[in-house]
Amino acid sequence: MTQDELKQAVARAAADYVASRVAEDAIIGVGTGSTANCFIDALAAMKGRFRGAVASSEATAARLKGHGIPVLDLNDVSTMPVYVDGADEVTPKLHMIKGGGGALTREKIVAAVAETFICIADGSKLVQALGKFPLPVEVIPMARAQVARELAKLGGTPKLREGFLTDNGNIILDVHGLSIADPVDLESRINQVVGVVTNGLFARRGADILLLGTPEGVKTLSA
Ligand code: A5P
Repeated sequence: MTQDELKQAVARAAADYVASRVAEDAIIGVGTGSTANCFIDALAAMKGRFRGAVASSEATAARLKGHGIPVLDLNDVSTMPVYVDGADEVTPKLHMIKGGGGALTREKIVAAVAETFICIADGSKLVQALGKFPLPVEVIPMARAQVARELAKLGGTPKLREGFLTDNGNIILDVHGLSIADPVDLESRINQVVGVVTNGLFARRGADILLLGTPEGVKTLSA
């Protein structure tokens, strides 16, 4: 199976979860990226089976709307049964690095409201330790140099994502070479650096369920 076929398989599995486990008036949290796009396309086939969606990026909102799926403002939503999103790396403990597409802050916000975080990923994303994928950190532009110095003190090499601004108008520093032995601790430490909006470690609130695409089929792992 190709990587695209594996992404489509996990997206269908997540859509099946929504169809079988979620109330008919539910609002679904939807992530960002190529795997989340497959999920959006699978959701489109189930229109009317849920009330609408909250998007984690402008790109996701546009794709949802393109399918005629109602997109709600998160501030008008008090409860959400599931948030479905991809990951750049995920461990067997369901800690993740996210933000390769730069949507990490809104992803973390939408995920925080959801009862269950379902990560959908092809098998190449499963790692024993996080950090080979450079860790994205969203930063207020005027704090770029100071935050970069602080990230270097933590052992990483921050590189500005050239020509990119997040949906929130901020920059991304991609941090290479971090040794991430304790993702929960590092997530908190980086978030405490003044000027950091958020970082792409999703460990304090990791995924609850991982739907992993493998040539043998979709495997389900729980936290
Ligand atoms: C977007 O900012 C990211 O967090 C994505 O969820 C992550 O990069 C996975 O993307 P793909 O599904 O495209 O690999």
